[in-house]
Amino acid sequence: MELFAERMKVLGTESAFQVGADIAKAEQLGVNVIKFNLGEPDFDTPEFICKSAADSLLTGNTHYCPPAGIIPLRETLAEDVSESRGVEVGPERIVVTPGAKPPIGYSMLTYVNPGDEVIYPSPGFPIYESWVTFVGAKPIPLHLQESKGFSFTAEELAELITPKTKLIIINSPSNPTGGVLSEDKIGEIAAVIKERCHDGVRIYSDEVYERILFDGSKHHSIASVPGMENKTVIVSGHSKSFAMTGWRLGFAVLPTREEAEYFTNLNINIISCTPPFNQIAGVEAYINPESNAAVSHMVKHFEERRDYAVPALNAIDGVTCANPRGAFYVFPNIAGVCENLDIFEQRDKLPAELKNKLSPSKLFQLFLIYHHGVATMDRQSFGSIGTEDMHFLRLSTATDLESIKAGIDRIRQAALDVEGFASFMSKREHFS
Ligand SMILES: Cc1ncc(COP(=O)(O)O)c(C=O)c1O
Repeated sequence: MELFAERMKVLGTESAFQVGADIAKAEQLGVNVIKFNLGEPDFDTPEFICKSAADSLLTGNTHYCPPAGIIPLRETLAEDVSESRGVEVGPERIVVTPGAKPPIGYSMLTYVNPGDEVIYPSPGFPIYESWVTFVGAKPIPLHLQESKGFSFTAEELAELITPKTKLIIINSPSNPTGGVLSEDKIGEIAAVIKERCHDGVRIYSDEVYERILFDGSKHHSIASVPGMENKTVIVSGHSKSFAMTGWRLGFAVLPTREEAEYFTNLNINIISCTPPFNQIAGVEAYINPESNAAVSHMVKHFEERRDYAVPALNAIDGVTCANPRGAFYVFPNIAGVCENLDIFEQRDKLPAELKNKLSPSKLFQLFLIYHHGVATMDRQSFGSIGTEDMHFLRLSTATDLESIKAGIDRIRQAALDVEGFASFMSKREHFS
């Protein structure tokens, strides 16, 4: 009998956490690494938020709390979501979770049977694809195209919808592309869903970057389109908006009270509850008048960095980079660099086992870490199905401007380093 259950073979991962091992190895070898791999604000949580958690702890708020989340937080979130999305949400439809990540798995467990189809964006947050395969569902990637600003048309979505479709995931602003769906586009997508999907289909609207928008863009939720609120699971959280990644605080707004009860029961089965003092701080983040200024300060910096990074990347021979309108990532196409450095041909010479594991963008990503001291993420870290011919990197711009300047300059040098790449490939030192 085998030790591990079959299902563990199909569980994917989020490589952003795993790249850390390569960074540590490179640093041990004496390489100074500029880190563009992590998707978290480089700002600390505003002090007034920290203080409210500390005060709460010191007054004894150290016990279990309601598994769906404390009432003051669910009421605050209900009010905010109702106002910002133009819908009427009460606290009974909100479930607080440790971060915006758990609702992805909860939705798969709640709505999706083995053999059902789940449509999700690719490139997209890797945990979507990971959970689809984990629950035995059929992954249906919706490929976002660079030429369309990493958006998709309602027709493209329509082509993927079948009677077996159960869950459709959308994410705006997007990780990893920074693409933002306009109100018109969301209206078109909603129209297709209403026309083609039966009542048992749910839309998972991942809105975790809702406050990180550039060029005056506005956030639009598909739940705001008339007739969509009762089909949509809205998910957001504190991690990105208020620089609270380590706190683990997020929430889902479910279409019905019954669905919220299912999510609550998953909380009971897995975590019992989200730490109560974090939730007190979560209320503070929403209601303290200082919050707006703190968020605007971060967003201003993210926008400035984007304004530097995009033209600097486009100036590199072999790179094209679309202009993101939200989140804190840039997603350059490096197909030209792969040509210039002969990555395709050299990869073809690898033994099949290594070749399968190492896409062209993965090879360039490893070369960047070990030879040029820049940590990025490769295309396949954001969904691997059907992406063989796609060659991109994701850089997080949640890093200070000086590091961004230095890091992009290192990428420019790496893109010219034909000899270095050939030597890197011949040694095969970092492929395990
Ligand atoms: C699109 C998207 N959804 C969800 C999450 C998870 O957020 P959290 O850290 O709050 O769990 C992330 C984090 O990177 C993300 O990029």
